[in-house]
Amino acid sequence: MTKKTVRAGFIGSGFAARFHREAIAKVYGCTVDLVGVFGRTAKNTQTFAAAHGIDVFDNLERLLDQVDVVHVLVPAAAHEEIAIKALQRNVFPIVEKPLTGSFGDGSNGFDGRTADRAQIRDQALASVQRMLHAESRSTAKILYAENWVYAPAIQKEREVIEKTGAQILWMHGEEAHSGSHSPAYGHWKYSGGGSMIGKGVHPLSAALYLKRVEGRARFGRAIRPATVTARTHCLTQLEGYVDAGHLRADYQDVEDFALIHVVFDDGTLATLFASEIVMGGVHNWLEVCANNHRTQCNLNPTDMMQTYNPVDKQFDDIYVVEKIGTKQGWAKTAPDEDHAHGFVQEIEAFYGTVAHGDAIESNSQLAADTISVVYSGYLSAARGGAEVEVRQFDD
Ligand SMILES: NC(=O)c1ccc[n+]([C@@H]2O[C@H](COP(=O)([O-])OP(=O)(O)OC[C@H]3O[C@@H](n4cnc5c(N)ncnc54)[C@H](O)[C@@H]3O)[C@@H](O)[C@H]2O)c1
Repeated sequence: MTKKTVRAGFIGSGFAARFHREAIAKVYGCTVDLVGVFGRTAKNTQTFAAAHGIDVFDNLERLLDQVDVVHVLVPAAAHEEIAIKALQRNVFPIVEKPLTGSFGDGSNGFDGRTADRAQIRDQALASVQRMLHAESRSTAKILYAENWVYAPAIQKEREVIEKTGAQILWMHGEEAHSGSHSPAYGHWKYSGGGSMIGKGVHPLSAALYLKRVEGRARFGRAIRPATVTARTHCLTQLEGYVDAGHLRADYQDVEDFALIHVVFDDGTLATLFASEIVMGGVHNWLEVCANNHRTQCNLNPTDMMQTYNPVDKQFDDIYVVEKIGTKQGWAKTAPDEDHAHGFVQEIEAFYGTVAHGDAIESNSQLAADTISVVYSGYLSAARGGAEVEVRQFDD
């Protein structure tokens, strides 16, 4: 049988574009026709297009008019506009995390650390509402690119929860490393915050997802976040911080450490950490403490492979593991990091939705709950960690 062909477009040609390009090359449930790429910086876009043999578009709308699905691979501040334009054309937007946010007034003087957090939260929720509204009027759906949902460790835990009828009592987890590569990161006006939105959304969405899974399995309805308590800190900006050169330390107006404590509507808990101050590779994990089992989901590092390298230089052209500071000595080398992170499975699943109408695990409701927790969390942090209600959008 001939495979169905899905026409795809890329918006953005940076870091995320590279791993999305690799993942679509592995899609097997349909044929992907990558029509072209549109980006803000002509030179970078042309370099990316030349490397992958695809056309450059100098007009967003013209690209959207020629595709079935569009990968939104730009800083979060531009997600809403592009996703809504796609939905208006019944084109499925694959929106990289975070779904959207609040980015201030656009002025250079804007400082996310001191801005009015209630206003910031309301702006973020209004942006979510506009995206959900556009989705409700479209035949296409938002595909929320949260790779943690599709990571093999999280999907195996889904099976455990569904088949054992588990009640999750507490989850704790983390995403951390020694600092983002993106120059835009560190400016609230581009990223909508710091560690909490940039990294915290990963373990947070995974935790929110697993409580949804539990609710579906036990009662036929999702268990949702009810309140959040959060703290944020700017450790590398402390007056007394001693910069030894191993951590990125040029953040403009965002936090580099966040703690998010969620209480769900059944009274159970999730506690997540996110930071830019952890050396030795990324630290991505989620532990589930349930009434009938305990699970540790290790996304990175994992124990699948370990190498000992006595001479740093001899591994010069060998990829070891994300954000490792040195290749000398023992390393938890990743034989297939994209698979362990769920990138490949995520893109396969999304193309299954576009081509065959498959149900979406990481959907707009999960994305909306994530944004609602994060920006209520920013309000909580501004109030010294006071508990703040999480506003829910209809499921
Ligand atoms: N899932 C993950 O683990 C993961 C990892 C990295 C980044 N991301 C997400 O991917 C998205 C992009 O991040 P990145 O690291 O690739 O950033 P990047 O800075 O490397 O690349 C961003 C690209 O977007 C382009 N761009 C910026 N504004 C634009 C606009 N208005 N219209 C068109 N193009 C525009 C830039 O020219 C650049 O090509 C972000 O939402 C980020 O959170 C996800």
